Amino acid sequence: MTRNEQHPCDASPAQARTFYGRRHGRPLRPGRRDLIETLLPQLSITLPDQGVFDPATLFPDPPAETWLEIGFGGGEHLAAQAGSHPETGFIGCEPFINGMASLLAKIKKEGLTNIRVFSDDARSLMDCLVEACLGRVFILFPDPWPKKRHAKRRLISPRTVDALAHTMKDNAELRLASDDPEYIRSMLEHLRRHEAFQWLAERPAHWRQRTPDWPATRYEAKALQAGRSCAYLRFRRRPR
Ligand SMILES: C[S@@+](CC[C@H](N)C(=O)[O-])C[C@H]1O[C@@H](n2cnc3c(N)ncnc32)[C@H](O)[C@@H]1O
Repeated sequence: MTRNEQHPCDASPAQARTFYGRRHGRPLRPGRRDLIETLLPQLSITLPDQGVFDPATLFPDPPAETWLEIGFGGGEHLAAQAGSHPETGFIGCEPFINGMASLLAKIKKEGLTNIRVFSDDARSLMDCLVEACLGRVFILFPDPWPKKRHAKRRLISPRTVDALAHTMKDNAELRLASDDPEYIRSMLEHLRRHEAFQWLAERPAHWRQRTPDWPATRYEAKALQAGRSCAYLRFRRRPR
């Protein structure tokens, strides 16, 4: 989509894009169900009926930076980042309700006040954000969709990369990770082909290991345990 076409916030549901992931897993324990009923409405982002919004306005004291995590899974990485950067506002997107409940439990336990959440497709949220509002974006181990015929379901596509280029600030960092060699190759192709992004790796060690300020995720632990190696890709959004 180019920015001149109809804005997704103004689109009818029939025009909305398809989300292919799971929304529900095992039934939630009563405590987690309570969090979904009580804490989620307090932290949930509602998209505007039309137009765009600045995510900094979601916080009572607008933070200097807003960072976004797409597909946070159980929320380990998001909660750890929010705990180590209390001055930053965080937005987490995760349509899988069990993952959302797990993050809410961490928010409550750790008393985190700098996270807001969107329990739907992150692409719809990004389409409603003002230009150049995100200081950092994390997309860690997005669903690999390894079958060739499912490759178009992958989150990292030219359209998503355009949306990232639009919503990220100049010099903002994008962090991607995957354990799927074909997806890693395709991520690199989309990002390196895009004029807005510069890959920050100068030698293999830069993408074979996480930086110290990059907490592990549950999916990564499973991949490593199964003997798969992971790639950790960092990009800079070039100045406009
Ligand atoms: C393989 S899991 C990885 C979870 C977590 N990042 C980790 O590393 O443990 C991918 C996650 O992305 C979420 N997801 C998939 N498509 C999404 C989308 N369009 N917007 C937001 N989240 C999405 C899924 O629900 C799933 O929880």
